[in-house]
Amino acid sequence: MVEILPSLLAADFARLGEEIARVEHAGVTMLHVDVMDGQFVPNLTMGPAVVKSLRKVTKAHLDVHLMITDPDRFSAAFVEAGADSVSVHQEACPHLDRSLRLIQSEGALAGVVLNPATPVSTLDEVLEFVDFVLVMSVNPGFGGQRFLPRSLEKIRQLAERRERFGYGYKIEIDGGVVMDNVAEIARAGAEWLVAGSSVFGAPDSGAAVRALRDAARAGQLV
Ligand code: DX5
Ligand code: ZN
Repeated sequence: MVEILPSLLAADFARLGEEIARVEHAGVTMLHVDVMDGQFVPNLTMGPAVVKSLRKVTKAHLDVHLMITDPDRFSAAFVEAGADSVSVHQEACPHLDRSLRLIQSEGALAGVVLNPATPVSTLDEVLEFVDFVLVMSVNPGFGGQRFLPRSLEKIRQLAERRERFGYGYKIEIDGGVVMDNVAEIARAGAEWLVAGSSVFGAPDSGAAVRALRDAARAGQLV
């Protein structure tokens, strides 16, 4: 089933509790949390303390996307703070197998993220046990960027490999997801669709989530 994951990066940080309540009211069960360190990407956001506070105000699945240079140093702290899933960038992990298994051993789902310039083939050795693969459809660091259409081909490749080898990972997409492309993204095979500005930048975030979800589910059925 396709899910829309509102990205809190686009929410009002002074009112996170209210912003979350509004999208939960529209049926959201998963939230996306962007962690940036100013080194791996040219922006800074939040740490485990924020996740711990979020955990107190929501039962939704907290999906933590680590855009940091040394994720092994912090992944356990995010799980302890309440993350249900944690993803690390292929480009940031020289020991990717270890980084992913570390997250799983802490009790969270482990995901691997691909930047736009990184091919799916770099994941051949981890696809068998990873819980989800996140395809970046923009260069990470900022919300509100335009969707890079080649990401659709990566989603199709991941869906095809999953089918061929009987793997169980979910496929997530992040960046530039809007009403105009959400159906095509779902049709390509993505199930977890992160949406920042198209949800929290809309006048009514609840209505925006419903519209995106309806369009995605309709696209999946085509
Ligand atoms: C970008 C982040 C995204 C971002 C997406 O580096 O990983 O999660 O919030 O925002 P939109 O949906 O505005 O592209
Ligand atoms: Zn993200």
